[in-house]
Amino acid sequence: MRIAVVGARGQLGAAIVQEFRVAHEVTPFGRTELDITDAAAVRDTIARARPDAIVNCAAYNDVDGAEDHPVDALNVNACGVRALAHAAEAVGATLVHYSTDFVFDGTASAPYTEGDRPNPRSVYAVSKLLGEWFAMDAPRAFVLRVESLFGRAAGAAPAKGSVEAIRKALTSGGQARVFEDRTVSPTSVVDAARATRQVIESARGGGRDVGVAPGLYHCVNSGRCTWLEFARELARQLGVREVDSRLVPVRTADVPLRAARPLYCALSNEKLRAAGVAMPAWQDALAQYLASDVADELSNR
Ligand SMILES: NC(=O)c1ccc[n+]([C@@H]2O[C@H](COP(=O)([O-])OP(=O)(O)OC[C@H]3O[C@@H](n4cnc5c(N)ncnc54)[C@H](OP(=O)(O)O)[C@@H]3O)[C@@H](O)[C@H]2O)c1
Repeated sequence: MRIAVVGARGQLGAAIVQEFRVAHEVTPFGRTELDITDAAAVRDTIARARPDAIVNCAAYNDVDGAEDHPVDALNVNACGVRALAHAAEAVGATLVHYSTDFVFDGTASAPYTEGDRPNPRSVYAVSKLLGEWFAMDAPRAFVLRVESLFGRAAGAAPAKGSVEAIRKALTSGGQARVFEDRTVSPTSVVDAARATRQVIESARGGGRDVGVAPGLYHCVNSGRCTWLEFARELARQLGVREVDSRLVPVRTADVPLRAARPLYCALSNEKLRAAGVAMPAWQDALAQYLASDVADELSNR
């Protein structure tokens, strides 16, 4: 299949390119090759590439920055997705788009399912929810909600995000401040990319009613934890001692943040599993990441 990956140089985008290259013809588009806020460029570029599937990893992800720059966030996370949906329709391509746990308000006490009603609490969250709706304009669309991404494709730029910040603090002998009251389903970009490939490939040679049905799915590693529990497991796997003095628990209310953060954000991936795509436990995904990252570093020496 011909796969166009948009936002291909981001954390997830690089993993998608790596995963699909094994078996497909991949055209990666970084922001310089395709800015999704330019609807005409999206239409023309996709028309030229004629992909079977478009995988959109481009996003405005600065959660706090979006409060001060709502138009920028909406342009990328909503209008850009609408342009991609229209371009997908024009060439008959499947559209895969990623969303976030932040569409929920975080007041639940059990993992959110796809049937739960979103209630976004920040500009970023609203822009991502609009993106979900616009993505569904494509005749064949998959919206995959991911969260708390970690890991990286082999050879890709160093990983970033909360997991990497905790890891850096632990391995450099410093202290990490971690939320004890935020619950998440941490997700490996490698597992999210593998699941995306399974979703797209499931209908190959089949037709519209074969394989994973288009729609909304929670694409997260199995299980849930608070950030403090995650950090403890990370420390255990890294062999870090005196963990209690190295991890400083903080509560969300005590940290001044521009945008609201949902407290309980675990997502259930049962719908994806029932469709035939099983996601590993987050602890196993973490072990896999740490092992592959060490191997990657050694091979680059
Ligand atoms: N990271 C997480 O923990 C997390 C959590 C929940 C959901 N998600 C979702 O997962 C998806 C992938 O996230 P990620 O962490 O891989 O993001 P990322 O590393 O920030 O990558 C996003 C990419 O989008 C590009 N981009 C930004 N504006 C663009 C535009 N106008 N046109 C084309 N490309 C543009 C960025 O390019 P520049 O670098 O040049 O700006 C960057 O390469 C996103 O939909 C995100 O909202 C992520």
